[in-house]
Amino acid sequence: MTARSPRLLIVDDELHVRESLSAWFTEDGYDVSTASGGKEALAVLGRQKFDVVITDIRMPGMDGIELQRHIHETEPEIAIILVTAYASVSTAVEALKEGAYDYLVKPFDPEEMSRVVEKACEKVHLREENVSLKERINGSRPEMIVGTSRAMQRVLDLVDSVAPTEATVLIRGESGTGKELVARQIHARGPRSFGPMVAVNCGALPEGVLESELFGHEKGSFTGATALRKGKLELADGGTLFLDEIGEISPRVQVDLLRALEDKKIIRVGGTQEVPVDFRVVCATNRDLEEAIREGSFREDLYYRINVFQINLPPLRERPEDILPIAEHFLKKFAHSMGRRVEKFSPEARDLLLKYPWPGNVRELANAVERALVVCHEGEILPKYLPIIARSTSAAFGGPSDDLSLQAIEHQHILKVLEMSEFNVTHAAKSLGIDRVTLYNKMRKYSIERP
Ligand SMILES: Nc1ncnc2c1ncn2[C@@H]1O[C@H](COP(=O)(O)OP(=O)(O)OP(=O)(O)O)[C@@H](O)[C@H]1O
Ligand SMILES: [Mg+2]
Repeated sequence: MTARSPRLLIVDDELHVRESLSAWFTEDGYDVSTASGGKEALAVLGRQKFDVVITDIRMPGMDGIELQRHIHETEPEIAIILVTAYASVSTAVEALKEGAYDYLVKPFDPEEMSRVVEKACEKVHLREENVSLKERINGSRPEMIVGTSRAMQRVLDLVDSVAPTEATVLIRGESGTGKELVARQIHARGPRSFGPMVAVNCGALPEGVLESELFGHEKGSFTGATALRKGKLELADGGTLFLDEIGEISPRVQVDLLRALEDKKIIRVGGTQEVPVDFRVVCATNRDLEEAIREGSFREDLYYRINVFQINLPPLRERPEDILPIAEHFLKKFAHSMGRRVEKFSPEARDLLLKYPWPGNVRELANAVERALVVCHEGEILPKYLPIIARSTSAAFGGPSDDLSLQAIEHQHILKVLEMSEFNVTHAAKSLGIDRVTLYNKMRKYSIERP
């Protein structure tokens, strides 16, 4: 983490108190701001990040206790130190119960004051360090990108060369090809890996919600906005903002987003104040953005802003060399986490994996492997543990697409009904209007095995 001066906000309605505290702490090496009351303090807090707030309890308008509650609602990590006269020490004790870090009693003992603030900063920093350490150890260390095909080697080279820069990256590819994985790698290997990686799924939210998700909102900006809320752009400060499914953003939000990316400033919904933001941008989409531009649903200027460096993830069917290495990677991973000892795919199962077109790409492959492992009783994965793939593969190769015989259709239909009944032969036979023995005979005829 970069060493920076701790940021301190001093809130007091009396000018001379603000001035003397400010002078004292500036001398001590703090980055100090001041506010003359609760409201002003919240405004300042909305613009800048602080480590510690020192606030007087008794102030006209919003008092220190109320200010503390507001701060805790939106930024619980800030340490708050309350200042009180002798008369109201009991109030300060109450405040401690509500989560204030400590309190100081007027008139101040400068040495004590310095010690308390210093310890508060240490605590805040320790917590920050813990969080980022934890993130680095568990959560945010991205998974390995597996791939030996030339296409994936090229992708890995591109990731290697762009990650250490600050460049904006646009990742394209079908669903399940690994766009998010690549985005996480770029963040983790970039200069902002110590900062957060904040992801927004732009396709999942209605326009109004997305807007407040991205830009945040001021308290009272709409019904239900009971407190100030920072948006993802603000939360990504110092790190990477991952805009997933950027092709789904509505034209109005596109305008706001473009402005934010260009000016590196945002205005929260319902607000007027500009807030500076600083992050790297990585976007992903499986939409044809050029087509969307022609249709008029995607802004060309935004497209140029995000399309600085492109990484295209090819669909799995175009890089069959990657299928087995990825399948084996997931087999190892899932077997380990399930405590199972299944180490390989049988040659027939490998064949199937290679023949299947994987419309859901790597995600589908991962799911198929996980499912196979759950139902597998042997020491290796057999074709019967990959039933859906086995069936579609037989359909794709010599199936009904070119074979329109009644037999082929019967084969497909029986498979489908069996799948729907999860291979419960009694149920399937009933749906098909035949008896179980007949169904068993047909299954034998078409070599349909129960998983
Ligand atoms: N090359 C790869 N090596 C290992 N795991 C991979 C690879 N590609 C993708 N995965 C894994 O496959 C799953 C799907 O990948 P990811 O979520 O990154 O896809 P996506 O392109 O973002 O899909 P969508 O467009 O549907 O959001 C994840 O679990 C990811 O870790
Ligand atoms: Mg994704």
